[in-house]
Amino acid sequence: MSGLFITLEGPEGAGKSTNREYLAARLREQGIDVLLTREPGGTPLAERVRELLLAPSDETMASDTELLLVFAARAQHLAQVIVPALQRGAVVLCDRFTDATYAYQGGGRGLDVQRIAQLENFVQGSLRPDLTLVFDLPVEVGLARAVARGRLDRFEQEGREFFEAVRSTYLQRAKTEPARYRILDAAQSLDAVQRDLDELLPQLLELQRG
Ligand SMILES: Nc1ncnc2c1ncn2[C@@H]1O[C@H](COP(=O)(O)OP(=O)(O)O)[C@@H](O)[C@H]1O
Ligand SMILES: [Mg+2]
Repeated sequence: MSGLFITLEGPEGAGKSTNREYLAARLREQGIDVLLTREPGGTPLAERVRELLLAPSDETMASDTELLLVFAARAQHLAQVIVPALQRGAVVLCDRFTDATYAYQGGGRGLDVQRIAQLENFVQGSLRPDLTLVFDLPVEVGLARAVARGRLDRFEQEGREFFEAVRSTYLQRAKTEPARYRILDAAQSLDAVQRDLDELLPQLLELQRG
């Protein structure tokens, strides 16, 4: 596959969506074919699974159900959107991907990492992101931004401990595979975060050409 698969990760309110738009604009200025997408979701069917995952409900969702729904949506998204885009040579900017599964279902819910890894191999084969941008910030700063944005979804209603586990899982994963990850200080002003992204841009263009 000739494209470039870039994922944006981090907790609620970290600035993933805002900066995904920013990065897309910078890349498109260079004439690059950019596809913006997100998880869970990214296709009509997968977006319906997203609604199931995010909607607060009286029925408790078993953690295994949650994990399988995440990967069911991902299988659909890969088949319909991500793989075809990479095959045509696009840069895919995906707001959350499997690192989020490790962070939320593994770190947050406490599911066994080996089972997540098995599903990752099953659904993705050998496909992994080429680059993962981790938007890191203190839990309370992200939550304050998410609260300011409006009504909280099923994950945003979790407690502080859950989000501390999400954050530390992202940081741990970045540490064990530093070549694939860039950690951005998302607590800075938006201008400062975007200056950091500007500095990354030559590397992204290099990856795309290579
Ligand atoms: N660096 C930043 N400083 C202050 N506010 C920010 C910053 N980045 C994003 N925001 C704001 O925080 C909110 C959440 O940003 P968003 O991009 O939707 O985050 P995410 O997609 O990671 O949940 C938005 O209102 C956005 O304008
Ligand atoms: Mg977002």
